[in-house]
Amino acid sequence: MSEQRGNWSSSVGFILAATGSAIGLGNLWKFPFITWENNGGAFVLVYLVCIAAVGLPIMMAEILIGRSTQKSVVGALKEAVGPAWGVVGMWGVLCGFILLSYYTVIAGWSLYYFSRTAQWMLGGFPAGTQTGAIFDAQVANPGLQLGLSLAFSVGTVAVVYFGVQKGIERIARLFLPILFGILVLMLVSALGMSGSGEALGFIFRPDFGRLEAGGVLEALGHSFFTLSLGMGAMVTYGSYMERNQSIVKASAVIVLLDTLIALVATIIMFSVIFSVAGMAEQVSGSTVGMLFISLPELFFTEVPFGNLLGPLFYVLVALAALTSTMSLLEVVASYVIDEHRIDRHKATLLCGGAVFVFTILAALSFSPVPLLSTMELFEGKPGWFSTADHFVSNWMLPTGGLAITIAAGWAMSRSVTEGELADGTEPGWFSYGAWRFFIRFVSPLAVAAIIIAVLLGQDFS
Ligand code: PHE
Repeated sequence: MSEQRGNWSSSVGFILAATGSAIGLGNLWKFPFITWENNGGAFVLVYLVCIAAVGLPIMMAEILIGRSTQKSVVGALKEAVGPAWGVVGMWGVLCGFILLSYYTVIAGWSLYYFSRTAQWMLGGFPAGTQTGAIFDAQVANPGLQLGLSLAFSVGTVAVVYFGVQKGIERIARLFLPILFGILVLMLVSALGMSGSGEALGFIFRPDFGRLEAGGVLEALGHSFFTLSLGMGAMVTYGSYMERNQSIVKASAVIVLLDTLIALVATIIMFSVIFSVAGMAEQVSGSTVGMLFISLPELFFTEVPFGNLLGPLFYVLVALAALTSTMSLLEVVASYVIDEHRIDRHKATLLCGGAVFVFTILAALSFSPVPLLSTMELFEGKPGWFSTADHFVSNWMLPTGGLAITIAAGWAMSRSVTEGELADGTEPGWFSYGAWRFFIRFVSPLAVAAIIIAVLLGQDFS
């Protein structure tokens, strides 16, 4: 069975693929922005606590559910807990479907900015360029948006089409080292800028007076998104894992790398922003502002070696996004493969095509298309794109995460979870008792707090 389904070639293959899933737009786009909004320091500290106390235990739980059953998310939950839990699995598949549909649109922007910055690298940055106007024009251009997201979707489908080892693992092995390399280059350049000291202080010097209660919940909500938790991506990737690999070690490495990359990306962006007078005020306006409005210009006007680093940076964004979109499509496709017995090639094309129909809706959300750009299911979230993002981040991931804590902490037997985590491969620092305490009490209570906050009107998208 496991040969037929495919498996990772080694522990490193699994770790790279899962780390690739975790590192994505969440690290490069969302995390720096919410850190900015929540005044840095104390928020970052709270985020680190959430990652360790909630993210890490749930990461282990998802992987163990996948590996113990060797099935994708629907089959895995049915087998690990009971037939009724197939519904929870379907919730995850649906979440992957919706998340992929709009994530692809932002991923497509990275292609556009790569081509723009590459032109500027070759032809020079035209004086008086308004990067805000460029951004507004590109999102509102329906043909361009469709083309960019189609290109990205085709890339995602092409990877998943070739399967676990020949597609996903191969791309992760190739792209992740490149991504790390580009980040190191950028970090060196950014640390040399005059604003780097201020940036480090902003990020690492906690001032709890500047953190609001909503910020704590936002940190918790983001820990799900950034670690790809709550919708079965790690269950699915875990199902291709061999029994002689340590789930605990792998989880720790994935979580550490994801956190490190989020922090490095933030240091880079803030060093640039703090180096330019007046920039701090300018970026406060919008989530996309930092990544797609301020940075493109600053690469050419401020950053040392920026005309080379600019295009490289958007390559980095595209690679990080692709290693995430392929995990999202894999959740959906592997469900169709395992539960409906359709072969991988057909299943991938089918699922990729179906998701793309919804990608079209997301891609046109910024054009003057009635309904798509104006519908307002959730207050203050106009358009299909914002509606989908709001629903996924606020409702789907936290409820899915809560279900996982109940499955692994309460519904599955202790002997099964202990057998997966404490199987002789675990590192010396690991305590099964501590994990069990966190997954039964700490994580579900924390997640319940997010859900209650959402019910009370807090917004995490
Ligand atoms: N973790 C990804 C990011 O940070 C997003 C993602 C969520 C990917 C869920 C897969 C599953 O961008």
